[in-house]
Amino acid sequence: MNNNEILRVLVNEKEIEETTTRLAEQIDRDFANSNGRLVLLGILKGSVPFMAELMKKIKSNPEIEFMKVSSYGSGTKTSGSVKIILDWQRENIEECDIIVVEDIIDSGRTLSYLCQYLKQKGAKSVRTCTLLDKPSRREVDFTPDYCGVQVPDEFVVGFGLDYDERYRALPYIGILNPEVYTK
Ligand code: IMP
Ligand code: MG
Repeated sequence: MNNNEILRVLVNEKEIEETTTRLAEQIDRDFANSNGRLVLLGILKGSVPFMAELMKKIKSNPEIEFMKVSSYGSGTKTSGSVKIILDWQRENIEECDIIVVEDIIDSGRTLSYLCQYLKQKGAKSVRTCTLLDKPSRREVDFTPDYCGVQVPDEFVVGFGLDYDERYRALPYIGILNPEVYTK
């Protein structure tokens, strides 16, 4: 990786740490008196580092599951439709308080589709938790229940987020130099 591939750091390691702590505390507070099974449902692959931090910090010992969906094709543009590539199966879904864990909300299509899908499957409750939100890009009306950091309309990578499968392993979130994807 070249030094000039990241224009600047948008959310550094300390801010990620503080953000995940705050979100875990909020979730703990909200589910303190619930008699359901708390399930963090991560959306592969972007949510993996965020999920790993969040699950350690939530005190009520959540269960974890993963789904894989596609909305972005390759590159930096969303395809507009959501496709389930890997689903999850549970016999006891009606006992599950699901929190969908996502890296970033852009158009809002992925999470609004998934919330509907999970409610239809019979979940006890469905909420959403995103590390990043780009509210200026919304195409459907959608507000997450738990939101880390709002970011401007820039293409960002790192801490799970990729461009063409690269940069996911960066420990911070940075703005990708447009030269990388306009070449
Ligand atoms: P939505 O359905 O448009 O809200 O799409 C959300 C998905 O788009 C995320 O899970 C990411 O995979 C991808 N995405 C949106 N913005 C970015 C970005 O700036 N960097 C990397 N991936 C992004
Ligand atoms: Mg994603």
